[in-house]
Amino acid sequence: MEIQLVLTFLKNLVAFMIIVASVVGGSVVCVIIAVFAWFFYRRKKHRLRFPDTFQDIDDIMRVESRPTLFSYSVLKKATKNFHISNKLGEGGFGSVFKGVLTDGTEVAVKQLSVGSKQGNDEFLNEVVLITSVQHRNLVKLQGCCLKGDERILVYEFLPNKSLHQALFDEEQVLHLDWLTRMKIILGTAQGLSYLHEGCRTRIIHRDIKASNILLDEDYNPKIADFGLARFFLDSQTHVSTRVAGTKGYLAPEYALRGQLTEKADVFSFGVVVLELISGRSNFDLRLPSDTAYLLDWTWGLHKKKMLKDVIDRSLVEDPCYSEEDAMRVVTIALLCTQSDATKRPIMSRIVLMLSRDANIEIPEIIQNSKPPELELTELPDVEVVPKGKSLTKIYSLSHEKIEGR
Ligand SMILES: Nc1ncnc2c1ncn2[C@@H]1O[C@H](COP(=O)(O)OP(=O)(O)O)[C@@H](O)[C@H]1O
Ligand SMILES: [Mg+2]
Repeated sequence: MEIQLVLTFLKNLVAFMIIVASVVGGSVVCVIIAVFAWFFYRRKKHRLRFPDTFQDIDDIMRVESRPTLFSYSVLKKATKNFHISNKLGEGGFGSVFKGVLTDGTEVAVKQLSVGSKQGNDEFLNEVVLITSVQHRNLVKLQGCCLKGDERILVYEFLPNKSLHQALFDEEQVLHLDWLTRMKIILGTAQGLSYLHEGCRTRIIHRDIKASNILLDEDYNPKIADFGLARFFLDSQTHVSTRVAGTKGYLAPEYALRGQLTEKADVFSFGVVVLELISGRSNFDLRLPSDTAYLLDWTWGLHKKKMLKDVIDRSLVEDPCYSEEDAMRVVTIALLCTQSDATKRPIMSRIVLMLSRDANIEIPEIIQNSKPPELELTELPDVEVVPKGKSLTKIYSLSHEKIEGR
């Protein structure tokens, strides 16, 4: 009797264990299947968002923030069919429109004007690369759109528009206080330093100017349009003046000889710094001829030891204003705009100088330096020399041809 009871108990135990094992085993199999299914679904989604031919750059695509491929209809809707009322501006590379996506996100949509000869893969490669270049002082590229020959870039939208508008726009000029101006100068220097020295691909901006420095809601500066030249240079077979930078910001060696290095950006940065400190644009033909060109005027004041005169008078009343800091910043701007590109400091050093961390004898350097050899009043028109072509092939087009982008 007892033996029978034990046998029944053992039978039940075995049955129970079989049931438990099947349930656990089944669940594990289900989980494995689910994981595989999810993995394949992700891969498929990935392929749907980016064409197969894009697989070459799979490794870059694994970065956290990969670009979104927007459909044309989404951007058309977001910008109300690229309506003029949504237009934020137009530069040498194309028109920029404000757009609102269906989830309410605001974006800036840039239609590249040059019918790029680049294939889709090349274009997408560049987009991925530029998207991977991220810094708090660079405007974030969110994605792009390809439709036929059209190439569109989608950026984060910055509500305070550009530094040019903040400083000089007659309708909406803002009074930027001293600390804000310092923040903009330092942030721009940090963004440029990252582009030149800190990111995986060295990027020379080529068009640093007040309208390419955008301001976020807290007036933090963000450099726009970096990397855009990449879309045009490689495939460009003809010489274009449109990507040559902007009159008044161009380093002389670049304007005259087409020599492009990071130091061309350093020069342009120096001009922007002077604009911020003086509160006036780099050339203002309404002013008397000896002051019309900001750089000439500043270097002239330096010679006469009257550099203080360049400072925006409205800043002097600012409670946070410091003349010592202002002179330091003006001196750095002069270092940046020396004629000899090799004497201009690199951006990381400028960041240090601005942060007052570098123990440098600025005045001594300045004594031995020369103003830009090129009279800005006589700035020749320039062409850009495409990669691989002779550097001597430049100059002599009509004045209107130097355009911003
Ligand atoms: N991401 C953005 N957010 C807000 N405004 C922008 C953005 N990008 C560009 N803009 C505005 O559009 C204008 C035109 O830009 P762009 O075509 O690059 O020409 P440019 O730099 O020569 O002014 C800029 O000056 C700026 O006011
Ligand atoms: Mg721009």
